[in-house]
Amino acid sequence: MKNMDTFQIEDKYHASFANKTKISIEKGQGVYVYDEWGKKYLDFTAGWGVTSIGHAHPVIIEALLNQSKKIIQNPNSGASYSPARAKLLLLMHEILPENLPRVFFSNSGAEANDAAIKIARKVTGKLNIISTLKSFHGRTISTVSATGQENHRNKFNPLIENHIFVPYNNIQSVKEVIEKDVAAVIVEPIQGEGGINVPDQDYLERLSFLCQENDVLLIVDEIQTGFCRTGPLFMSGQKKVKVDILTMAKGIAGGFPFGAFAITEEINDKIEKGDHGGTYCGNPLGCAVAYSVIKYILDYNIQENVEKTGKFAIRELKEIMAEHSHLIKDVRGKGLLIAVEFYDENTASTFASKCLENGLILNVIHGNIIRIFPAINISKEEIFEGLKIFRNSLLSIL
Ligand SMILES: Cc1ncc(COP(=O)(O)O)c(C=O)c1O
Repeated sequence: MKNMDTFQIEDKYHASFANKTKISIEKGQGVYVYDEWGKKYLDFTAGWGVTSIGHAHPVIIEALLNQSKKIIQNPNSGASYSPARAKLLLLMHEILPENLPRVFFSNSGAEANDAAIKIARKVTGKLNIISTLKSFHGRTISTVSATGQENHRNKFNPLIENHIFVPYNNIQSVKEVIEKDVAAVIVEPIQGEGGINVPDQDYLERLSFLCQENDVLLIVDEIQTGFCRTGPLFMSGQKKVKVDILTMAKGIAGGFPFGAFAITEEINDKIEKGDHGGTYCGNPLGCAVAYSVIKYILDYNIQENVEKTGKFAIRELKEIMAEHSHLIKDVRGKGLLIAVEFYDENTASTFASKCLENGLILNVIHGNIIRIFPAINISKEEIFEGLKIFRNSLLSIL
């Protein structure tokens, strides 16, 4: 241990799952983070869409402090009542679609999806789950089984059976398989990890209609898109979309490991005591933090900020694309969930390294796509600052 720095310790003792970037972040403030030696970076990743209201936000610190002074974990966990949980449930009830009054909390997104799939099978008595190609639903064995990307799936066979994959944004392909003993369709309103794939505006609505026609549940995975990431609190909140199970995580608690799923009263009527649970599910500390984050999002009209800054960022990035059309193939996204797709992986990787050197942290997916998803309370000036580094870094690698 002695004489080893953070890089050496992690490289020696951390299980080697991640392809790490060589930065060691010690602290953060707002949209900025600082490495161990004090170098400042602008964070365009928000910890993968998680630190939604920025690093070290006072409302989160206050919630953590106040609640931990009271109680962190209830006696008998979720089998006793908690005022912190009740307070969050009331707030969730205000923001969720009306037909989803029942909520259960989880520790992560994968756990919420896992439960959603489990419950869908149980309450319908049917077997198959329709999922979309290029989707991402988590890294547990059941959510890997529901994920439509071979690179996440093919190393872990045998997976959970009875998942049927259809192309994203393609209603006809769902029609062709929906009668095959299908319990549910699971779908992201915008595919995040799959490359920020934005479907037609009426995709969810048509999917919802098809599910209702065939007595199939619709599970909408808003783990990445939820809590104003793309503008509205939920993309599936549109009137004509009837969601049966809505899964959430990431931005819900601004960095505290937390998730949730919401279900209809009809589903709730069909579940039995003991069907689901978990030691930390709905622990008071997580509930207090989630409450503080959601309240902040509502009180400060973060939706408007996302719409404004998102439009600005996409417009600027499209300009950059026009200037470098030989390098950048596409700019797409909604709100503050944006992809810049390069033609080739080498350029994207050299570019991301250059940005890092210049103080901007980016997330590269699939080798050639830069995913931009900063804190949703980022200002236009901070976006501008990041895009200036983006522009200059691009010029410097030409
Ligand atoms: C759409 C979607 N679903 C599920 C997950 C898994 O969430 P978690 O990493 O919290 O388990 C992710 C994570 O990236 C996601 O983007």
